[in-house]
Amino acid sequence: MLIQLFCFLMIFLFFFVQSIDISSPPGTPLGSIHQEWTTCTPLAGKFTVRNVSDDVVLRIEGPVCAISCGDDVVFKVLSEDSSVQVGTITKQWRGLCAEAFTDADNFGLSVPVDMDVRTKALLLGALFLIDFMYFEKANNN
Ligand SMILES: *[C@@H]1O[C@H](CO)[C@@H](O)[C@H](O)[C@H]1NC(C)=O
Repeated sequence: MLIQLFCFLMIFLFFFVQSIDISSPPGTPLGSIHQEWTTCTPLAGKFTVRNVSDDVVLRIEGPVCAISCGDDVVFKVLSEDSSVQVGTITKQWRGLCAEAFTDADNFGLSVPVDMDVRTKALLLGALFLIDFMYFEKANNN
């Protein structure tokens, strides 16, 4: 029941949340996060991180289905041409029961220290988008 609800919510959000713009401070756009559609695996989490000129600066690739029990969910942060992995976004999954009753999600973002601060800010935005799309519950906005 709970898993079905999660899956439904995930699919719903995939159709309605396709990109977000990131500004910091408000009024100063840094760039945007876009969800990428692939025809054969529409549920694979694929995102591009774009700067203000709408150029792709990083790509994020998630697992095919983020609803897995017991494992950490790892999203790879890849370079713009997908050739190099530059970091990871990890969600520590503590089991569906714990998830249902607490909302203290553990997210980890690991990126090179010398990465541009604007790019880091964009990745933080991506982290929140991913959290919202995959893990937050409907009555929790
Ligand atoms: C956006 O990214 C592209 C490609 O990395 C770069 O050439 C361009 O200068 C960047 N634009 C800004 C405003 O940072």
